[in-house]
Amino acid sequence: MRATVPSFAKLNLDLRVLHKRPDGYHELRTIFQTIGLHDQLKIEFDFAKRSQIDLTSSIDIQDNLVFRSAKLVLDALKVKAWVRFALRKRIPLGAGLGGGSSNAAAVILALPKLAKKSLPPATQMKLAEALGSDVPFFLYGGTALGLGRGTELYPLPDLPPHHVLVVSTGIHVSTAEAYGSLGRALTSQGDSPILREFQTIAWTLEGPRLEHLPLKNDFEEAVFKTHPELARVVRKLGKLGAKPARMTGSGSAIFGIFSSAEAAREAAANFPAATTFVTRFLTRRQYRRAWQ
Ligand code: C5P
Repeated sequence: MRATVPSFAKLNLDLRVLHKRPDGYHELRTIFQTIGLHDQLKIEFDFAKRSQIDLTSSIDIQDNLVFRSAKLVLDALKVKAWVRFALRKRIPLGAGLGGGSSNAAAVILALPKLAKKSLPPATQMKLAEALGSDVPFFLYGGTALGLGRGTELYPLPDLPPHHVLVVSTGIHVSTAEAYGSLGRALTSQGDSPILREFQTIAWTLEGPRLEHLPLKNDFEEAVFKTHPELARVVRKLGKLGAKPARMTGSGSAIFGIFSSAEAAREAAANFPAATTFVTRFLTRRQYRRAWQ
């Protein structure tokens, strides 16, 4: 059995970090959005006496989540197989675009089908959570509200197909370090201004345009202090007409929303030293359809 599947990237349209929890993770409020930028994962699957997982990749990646995900899925299915993955990477690493998490979720979605078995949604979710905080979102895609560690997910209405320019400077931000550098006591009170503002955004997201919403990413302040060039990318995108321009996740990729693909492409030409991607929001339905 073989399959070739897309593995899409995400943006955090808004990301609020609240308090540190007893389990060491931070309590989040975020709005996830899948975009068209994707890796490609080719999978060949044969039942075998002993399980073996091989991975080749277009770039050198260490400790890719594909391995760990495949092991967990084979165990959960109670199946032994020789699985060969060939990963064509386009999503930049350490950029807050969820590339590794997306690859892991692609394996959870694809392997059961190749083994002609099924994994109940609750089991898929459990495996995804064990692999990383961003992995569960990629089981569903589209626009979603992420709570808790970012793994408690609820669907939000599909947004219109906004055009996006993603600017990746190549700066690698470690997620754990970014959380460590936040260094401010964020509040967990139910009536805090942060939560009230976030709620307003979630309720008004249905409207046609994102540009009027006070979208925020709590990591920007801390990450921009270490990497002021990222703040310059945000400012430049704003001057080029992006509404809004923000960092995604804990960085370092910056995205700008544009009114047309042409406007996004024109803006991209102003970042010759960076890797740029002109893409679009992907709805939940488009995400699922790409899978079928
Ligand atoms: O879950 P994941 O492996 O992606 O998390 C990487 C690191 O980011 C964690 O070890 C933790 O330090 C931090 N993190 C956090 N709160 C979250 C998600 C991640 O503190 N909600």
